[in-house]
Amino acid sequence: MQGKSVQLLYCLFLSTLISSCHNSAEKKLSTVDTLNRKWWKEAVVYQIYPRSFKDSDGDGIGDLKGIISKLDYIKSLGITAVWLNPIYSSPNDDNGYDVSDYRNIMKDFGTMQDFDSLLKGMHERGIKLVMDIVVNHSSDEHEWFKQSRSSRTNPYRNYYHWWNAERGKPPYRYSLFDVNHDAWKYDSLTNAYYLHYFSRKQPDLNWENPKVRNEVYDMMKFWAAKGVDGFRLDAFQFAAKDTTWPALPSDLNTKFEKYYGMVNGLHDYLKEMNKEVFSKYDVMSVAEGAGQTFEDAHNLVDAGRNELGMAYAFDGVNLAKYPSTPNGEKYSIIKFKEIFSKWDSAFANNGWLSVFLSNHDQARLVTRFGNDAPQFREQSAKMLITFLMSMRGTPYYYNGDELGMTNIRFNKIEDYRDVQTLNEYQYQKTHGGNLSEFIIRKAFESRDNGRTPFQWNDSINAGFTTGKPWINVNANYTTINAAVQDKDANSILNYFRKMVQLRKNNLALVYGKYTLLDKNNPAVYAYTRELNGKKLLVLLNFTANNATANTGINLLKAKQLISNYSTASNKVLRPYEAAVYEL
Ligand code: NOJ
Repeated sequence: MQGKSVQLLYCLFLSTLISSCHNSAEKKLSTVDTLNRKWWKEAVVYQIYPRSFKDSDGDGIGDLKGIISKLDYIKSLGITAVWLNPIYSSPNDDNGYDVSDYRNIMKDFGTMQDFDSLLKGMHERGIKLVMDIVVNHSSDEHEWFKQSRSSRTNPYRNYYHWWNAERGKPPYRYSLFDVNHDAWKYDSLTNAYYLHYFSRKQPDLNWENPKVRNEVYDMMKFWAAKGVDGFRLDAFQFAAKDTTWPALPSDLNTKFEKYYGMVNGLHDYLKEMNKEVFSKYDVMSVAEGAGQTFEDAHNLVDAGRNELGMAYAFDGVNLAKYPSTPNGEKYSIIKFKEIFSKWDSAFANNGWLSVFLSNHDQARLVTRFGNDAPQFREQSAKMLITFLMSMRGTPYYYNGDELGMTNIRFNKIEDYRDVQTLNEYQYQKTHGGNLSEFIIRKAFESRDNGRTPFQWNDSINAGFTTGKPWINVNANYTTINAAVQDKDANSILNYFRKMVQLRKNNLALVYGKYTLLDKNNPAVYAYTRELNGKKLLVLLNFTANNATANTGINLLKAKQLISNYSTASNKVLRPYEAAVYEL
């Protein structure tokens, strides 16, 4: 043992010696060259929700040809990668997150030929494509499930989790989308229950079965061979299960991530997926969820572990909760800064993070984190853009947020389309919930707020469709739309384009060291980003009032690179003022 330690020390000494010789020989190399640069670290990811982006055939549903017709717009944003929500065949219980055929395109969205043209069109414009891979569960209309449920002895039976009813009722599992919150659905055909963490039409796949895993890897290789550039693994932190099915504590319903996430086996599956798929292509990989601790997150993404490229944590986005959310943390600027600084520090030396504040599962960015009142909407939307594009990590930006689209705030249940909202409404109804309070809450937080059609112009249905849109268009499209903003040099859209360029032109904004300043300031988020002697200062007023930042930095000699106000700022930051300086 002792001998081994001495040997280890000797090796360490030698390797330090070698690396310092190496370093001096390569002295001229800048730090940037040693940053382990990757295209996906430098990417700005634009998320497209295909159902709501652009309809090309008048059926009221966005489609691939619609996206193709807008490729020049997408390119004009300066973004370098697109994450496309699921486009596979699906009965659409959960808008494509219930896949019935992983190798085909949903009829509403078009054909495989359309997909090939879309991919080609993106690549011709220098844009990478990241696919959504939904394999915690499939649709109950997938052939695997149809076989699986047909008999207890069917070869596909073990593709899913079944509990035979003669054993009694299975131990309670919470379902996020079920009308009864019950994740076990009884199926009389074989007198057994199957597991579904999401809706009844989304049975969970059994990852312990190597056949399932191989089917998934083959399917991913099918898309990789087509040339897609990355994978976002939906709900993957839930994929591994403890199939001894122990009873779980009674706070399961509110803390399901704690019990469902990162169960033993998950890392092995990711390592295997990495070996079988990721390692064979130059692809970006990210799984939804980063576990409960930094240790979990690091275990997912640290180089050397060969699992994923980047982590995707919810702490930031979870902050802006409807005020009376049970167990919800109260939102404050200080808390916001604390969370983003904490995550930055966790990945300062190893691992990589995605940075986002909105997506198709959230209400609108400006409504939740900014201020969508007419006098503040533009300024606060630009301030949030400045934040997202100046943090370390890969920024993800959701379609429509570049226009400052706002929550539609439906005031009746009939307007909603989202399975989560609709089923939860049923649950509340049957369990004596307060339905009017529910509707008020959903106007703030329902996912459908983020899913209303993209507002292209002021023509009928915002130029999204010539038919009847699958979900209502926000009435403010006559003033908030891409056509108007394209022509206005000071629009949110053009600010987004400038800020994306600024990030692309300043590697310090991608890789640079992040330092939080004026930590306890309750209104201003201030930080620097530094790389290779270049130092940038970011000042963000997160409030509707004037505020000052005590950064200790004299701005007189600083060069302002961008600001969301047209007149120069002074010591006082105006409402939602944002600026980036070079020091
Ligand atoms: C997470 C996805 O982002 C969400 O839209 C979906 O409903 C669930 N996973 C289930 O697939």
